[in-house]
Amino acid sequence: MEKNEGLLVRRIREGVVIDHIPAGRALYVLKLLGITGREGYRIALVMNVESRKLGKKDIVKIEGRFLKPEEYNKIALIAPTATVNIVKDYHVVKKDKVVLPEVIEGIIVCPNPTCISRKPGEPIASKFKRLSDKPLRLQCMYCGAIVEEEDILKSIVEGSL
Ligand code: CTP
Ligand code: ZN
Repeated sequence: MEKNEGLLVRRIREGVVIDHIPAGRALYVLKLLGITGREGYRIALVMNVESRKLGKKDIVKIEGRFLKPEEYNKIALIAPTATVNIVKDYHVVKKDKVVLPEVIEGIIVCPNPTCISRKPGEPIASKFKRLSDKPLRLQCMYCGAIVEEEDILKSIVEGSL
């Protein structure tokens, strides 16, 4: 455990620890998981602590909640460096790196208002192809619109572009 974090929050008994989140993005991770704080989970947010690998990082700990497979992909969009630790009985029993898929479906809204994925009554999920990783750039597979990393963060926070 890294020293600075240890001073701030204790270890959890059972749940998930999302570690190595780029500094400043912990709130986006919670938002993306649909967590408002009113669900009653005990949650610890650690932001801007020192990390050997990243310089600075954020950590999110959620007691009593685990992640669904699609949530790993969502997290990869905004925190590609994240490690997801599953904790049981105080021990890390599983440690996974998040993976950003080639094709990202249904998470981001296409910025093109005339895109077929945005037609009301047309139940077509958005579908983006990954053009680059760093910085993240995606392209709508229906209309060709390109979204940049900043737009993706905004889309996740606001629910639209
Ligand atoms: N953790 C926790 N509660 C536990 C066990 C672990 O909150 N009961 C947290 C640790 O504080 C750390 C993360 O889960 O932020 C991963 O724990 P661990 O694998 O023990 O730490 P490291 O070896 O430092 O992880 P890594 O190699 O991924 O940096
Ligand atoms: Zn589109």
